[in-house]
Amino acid sequence: MPILLSRIGPQRKKLKGYTPIEVDEMFIIPTERLILRDFNKTDWRAVHVYASDPEVVRYMDWGPNTETETKDFIRRSIASQKEKPRKNYLLAIVLKAEDRLIGSCGLHVTNPNHQEGWVGYCLNRHFWRQGYATETVKALLGFGFRQLGLHRIFATCDPANVGSARVLEKASMQREGRLREHKWAKGGWRDSWLYAILEGEWKNG
Ligand SMILES: CC(C)(COP(=O)(O)OP(=O)(O)OC[C@H]1O[C@@H](n2cnc3c(N)ncnc32)[C@H](O)[C@@H]1OP(=O)(O)O)[C@@H](O)C(=O)NCCC(=O)NCCS
Repeated sequence: MPILLSRIGPQRKKLKGYTPIEVDEMFIIPTERLILRDFNKTDWRAVHVYASDPEVVRYMDWGPNTETETKDFIRRSIASQKEKPRKNYLLAIVLKAEDRLIGSCGLHVTNPNHQEGWVGYCLNRHFWRQGYATETVKALLGFGFRQLGLHRIFATCDPANVGSARVLEKASMQREGRLREHKWAKGGWRDSWLYAILEGEWKNG
């Protein structure tokens, strides 16, 4: 049975509400070609291949990682699997055909009371431009709206990150605006595009 959130104000009672779910030992979202799954301790090597690649982390506010930083990321991801209710789904992107870890993605419930979530993703560059990020984001949106009962899911990306903006548009997310000097990254302030999709738009999409 899903755990019901106890601190929803009276004005929200008529809404369906964010629905925390019970998570199995290993959380999995299957897609056509991918498995999005919880990280385990041995994943750090495959993650480190792209987390230490300057080209991959060019628009990220982290990296290139040292081995210690990648191991720490895996440690934090594993720790977040035990949250109750779980609000962070930091997941490995695994290519089904090869059982190979090719990236990471995440859905974070940013505000349960407002039924809002965030998505992010990052792939090993040998697997770019094959539709994997788009497939990942569509699966995360489905999970967020269908299973978690979210109302709005957003993402941000650097305006120069053309590929990422295209992924979000292909997942039917709308560009809502530009967040000025939103992030400190690689020694300077960076703007971000803000993209979002509402549950109703996702259902009608
Ligand atoms: C951005 C990123 C996730 C895209 O992943 P991907 O798996 O290559 O994306 P997809 O294959 O699903 O491509 C979706 C669309 O974007 C386009 N695209 C992807 N990368 C592109 C690029 N560098 N320049 C222009 N278009 C690009 C694809 O051609 C496709 O559009 P189309 O179907 O109209 O041809 C990947 O480049 C990456 O991991 N980058 C490093 C990490 C990062 O920047 N993450 C996002 C942080 S906001």
